Amino acid sequence: MPKRVQGSMKICIIGAGFVGLATGVTLGKQGHEVVFSDIDPGRVKSVNSGILPFFEPPLEKELKALVRKGKLTATTDSVGAVSASKFVFVCVQTPSLPSGRIDTRPVKSACNSIAKALRASNDYKVVVMKSTVVPSTTDSLVLPIIEKGSGKSAGKDFGLCMNPEFLQEGSALRDSMEPSRIVIGSLDKRSGDMLESLYKKMKSPLLRTDIRSAEMTKYASNTFLATKISYSNEVANMCERFGIDSEPVLKAVGMDPRIGPLFLRPGVGFGGSCLPKDVRALRDRARLDGYNSRLLSTLLAMNDEQPQEAIRLLEKAIGDIGSKRIAVLGLAFKGGVDDVRETRALPLITHLLAKRARVVAFDPMAIPNFIRLMPTIEYASSAAECLKGADGCIVQADWPQFKKIGKREISSMRQRVIIDGRRCLNPAAVRRAGARYLGIGYGLQEKD
Ligand code: NAD
Ligand code: UGA
Repeated sequence: MPKRVQGSMKICIIGAGFVGLATGVTLGKQGHEVVFSDIDPGRVKSVNSGILPFFEPPLEKELKALVRKGKLTATTDSVGAVSASKFVFVCVQTPSLPSGRIDTRPVKSACNSIAKALRASNDYKVVVMKSTVVPSTTDSLVLPIIEKGSGKSAGKDFGLCMNPEFLQEGSALRDSMEPSRIVIGSLDKRSGDMLESLYKKMKSPLLRTDIRSAEMTKYASNTFLATKISYSNEVANMCERFGIDSEPVLKAVGMDPRIGPLFLRPGVGFGGSCLPKDVRALRDRARLDGYNSRLLSTLLAMNDEQPQEAIRLLEKAIGDIGSKRIAVLGLAFKGGVDDVRETRALPLITHLLAKRARVVAFDPMAIPNFIRLMPTIEYASSAAECLKGADGCIVQADWPQFKKIGKREISSMRQRVIIDGRRCLNPAAVRRAGARYLGIGYGLQEKD
């Protein structure tokens, strides 16, 4: 058994984003004292008032409670926050550069702050990389920056672990409190033992690995999820052409325990801040070692083309879409979130505009974020308003409230056609409400 971490620990989380805040709130709920450090003063202010900078209601509720109890604070002073802590979690963003490679500047900057704090301290601290970084980043970038800047030795004066995060947006707190697995890659046994002990209240299976295996586990997981989605899209695209509904087909496929039922829902492709970025980053990392991943290249190419499937269905139903008024429901990268990073709504609407359609869009939460990406299209204030006078509608995100669209909303459309780009609606219910239903992977005709 690893040496126990006794009682409440002081924990610094660098980067108060989805991962940082979910990690911090989880550890705060377990009785630890957490300080978030972020370079964005607005974010720091918001966290100190118990307000999340994004839409994730259960996480916000717990954040508020912990801030009120004085268990969580936030600061822009990373060096001070690291100095006062035993564990330091690096949770900064690692976005794509145009080449697909990850931009490591935020990680480097976080490491410089850690190094400064370690230089002035003789306390053994555990540095935990939680940001998603390609294999060898932790030992060949993070480690030397901290060692050089601090004058201390990794494994002796400070510990280093890589602990990938697997949470999904929309269920961030639950996933962080009850992860499907905890992977701890450690440079030195002592820091791995300490991190394992910090997680002792969690019931999840825990795997101990080396640092590079932990880094690779994250990419292998996300690229597998992207593969499952793209495979479902491939099957669905064929089913639609064959006059078959892909839903029972994929349901039966998912009943095989070797495959599993989740992530087999076809649609206009995978978006979000991580799946596309991680597929690109792993492909780029493989190239550095002379490996050309044809699978990852195909996933990206397929995903780029997938929004066109929804437009093809729309054209099949209403013909030329030039100068037609097209309603797009759902702008977030999936239902239930306000995050628009790599949302498929962007390529979808860009293609619609290129075909000279007039686009009117609605999302329950994501309009303020999406407007920054596309300031000039028309926005509606409700799904009902969006559908009014439309010549067709494409559902791009699976918000549960879109299922409630009924006769009243449908009857206000100029041409009653709904394209289900996420397979989240009930075809029969849409038809009962008076619209023609077409969906990704739905090849049945009205008479069926
Ligand atoms: P985010 O963009 O929501 O948050 C990152 C935060 O780090 C921002 O608030 C930013 O201001 C702050 N920051 C940047 N540089 C800093 C510095 N030098 N010092 C202090 N703060 C700094 O990012 P995220 O979505 O939480 O993702 C973080 C990492 O976790 C990424 O590598 C991502 O791939 C990975 N990840 C994300 C998710 C997810 O669902 N969003 C899930 C698993 C893993
Ligand atoms: C994803 C992974 O699911 C998490 O495990 C991972 O931790 C995270 O990325 C990350 O590394 O950041 P998330 O970005 O929240 O989580 O989004 P998902 O729920 O995976 O959805 C991604 C995209 O795939 C969305 O556009 C969604 O609509 C699409 N999707 C998902 C499908 O098209 N079909 C499906 O069956 C599932």
